[in-house]
Amino acid sequence: MGGIADAKQALKQRILDLVREYYAVAHQRPEFEPGRTRVSYSGRVFDEREMVLLTDSALDFWLTAGPYADKFERRMRQFFDCRDFLLVNSGSSANLLMVTTLCAPDLINNLRGDGPGPLQPGDEVITPAVTFPTTVAPIVQNRLVPVFVDCEVGTYNINPHLIEDAIGPRTKAIFVPHTVGNPCDMEIIPEIAKRRNLWLLEDGCDALGATFNGQLAGTFGAMSSLSFYPAHHITMGEGGGVAVNAFGLQKSAKSVRDWGRDCWCDPGKSDTCGKRFEWQLGELPCGYDHKYIYSNIGYNMKVTDLQAAIGLAQADRIDEFVEARRRNFRRLQDGLKDWQEYLILPKIDPRANPSPFGFPITLREGVDRGRLVRHLENAQIETRLVFGGNIVKQPGFLNIEKRVHGDLRDSDVIMRDTFFIGVYPGLTPIMIDYVLEAFAAYFVKRPVAVL
Ligand SMILES: Cc1ncc(COP(=O)(O)O)c(C=O)c1O
Repeated sequence: MGGIADAKQALKQRILDLVREYYAVAHQRPEFEPGRTRVSYSGRVFDEREMVLLTDSALDFWLTAGPYADKFERRMRQFFDCRDFLLVNSGSSANLLMVTTLCAPDLINNLRGDGPGPLQPGDEVITPAVTFPTTVAPIVQNRLVPVFVDCEVGTYNINPHLIEDAIGPRTKAIFVPHTVGNPCDMEIIPEIAKRRNLWLLEDGCDALGATFNGQLAGTFGAMSSLSFYPAHHITMGEGGGVAVNAFGLQKSAKSVRDWGRDCWCDPGKSDTCGKRFEWQLGELPCGYDHKYIYSNIGYNMKVTDLQAAIGLAQADRIDEFVEARRRNFRRLQDGLKDWQEYLILPKIDPRANPSPFGFPITLREGVDRGRLVRHLENAQIETRLVFGGNIVKQPGFLNIEKRVHGDLRDSDVIMRDTFFIGVYPGLTPIMIDYVLEAFAAYFVKRPVAVL
């Protein structure tokens, strides 16, 4: 037996050494060639460590969420100091999980009874008009009604001063994304949620590591989501997670992720509750196997252990990645100051320390976004819009049941005149300088009439 274990270990070592060697040969970054090398807005940043853990997981061939998923969830629980952290297969699933949890049939059994309580069909959720589609979709999918509130040019977040007036008799929750990594006003918003007895959910997909008043974004709301798609701060290819902060939500959240089941055994385990064949729930016969009792209408949102292995290696680098993003952001902020007669640069609240997803820019009146974006893209500088712009205007969202609070003037400005460029850790100082030169070339050469 010792012989097989030793042989296995020795073979694994050889394979992992070869993987390290392969990484060094196959994934060398090519030299930056201005105008030829793409300056991406984002991308995966990895080295041999991610490839080694991925290969280790492949050799173990556990496949479903297992040892690496456990480690990753534990690591993120420590990072957020939250009650629970649930790994799921995307940021969109994380958002769906959060909203569905607030509607879960079994939630009422787990809450203390003094909070806002479970959401019912027709209840309203306040959310910004400028957003990512799958921040709003779970509201609609759960037969709730989004209440759209205007955003601010400069912060690109919900205007916190409009929230209180948007609250109606059916309003039960506020769901805010920290857009492009800049945290929302987490003094005003949690205070309103508490005083008006509303659930607060954070979409932190763009904002891992951001803080407000020194507190991590993702720790203010009842729950908060993350995305681990390659564009985000850390990646596992596809992946996401939910930090559960509030009391009473963990069991329902886990159930919704895992098929809606009542049983909370880990994969491959049985009888964690010690009474697997003694439950009587719903109208099922007494003793019906707890593994097959469903107290919620759930999903399967789980990841594979291979994804989690990559995520674990990335989790070691959160601080390094966040710092690089902040450094790149500062360099762009300083370098673009000369063009403020044309550009509105990001507005950062002194209480906020963003963990930038990108560098958003709004063009002042008379400057045409299409023309500038084409100039940058022709120079191989990738640009992106702030997701769905004013989501109310998107074809898929035109006919949803909704309430619009006030006008969405600034959201329309963001839809028409805003875009963002990259700050991800794969960008070097030389690349950022090249981006700054491209802006300079645009504004120096052109008479204002053709901006
Ligand atoms: C704010 C926000 N929420 C949710 C998502 C969805 O994440 P995913 O692509 O992992 O589904 C994204 C994706 O970029 C996002 O930016």
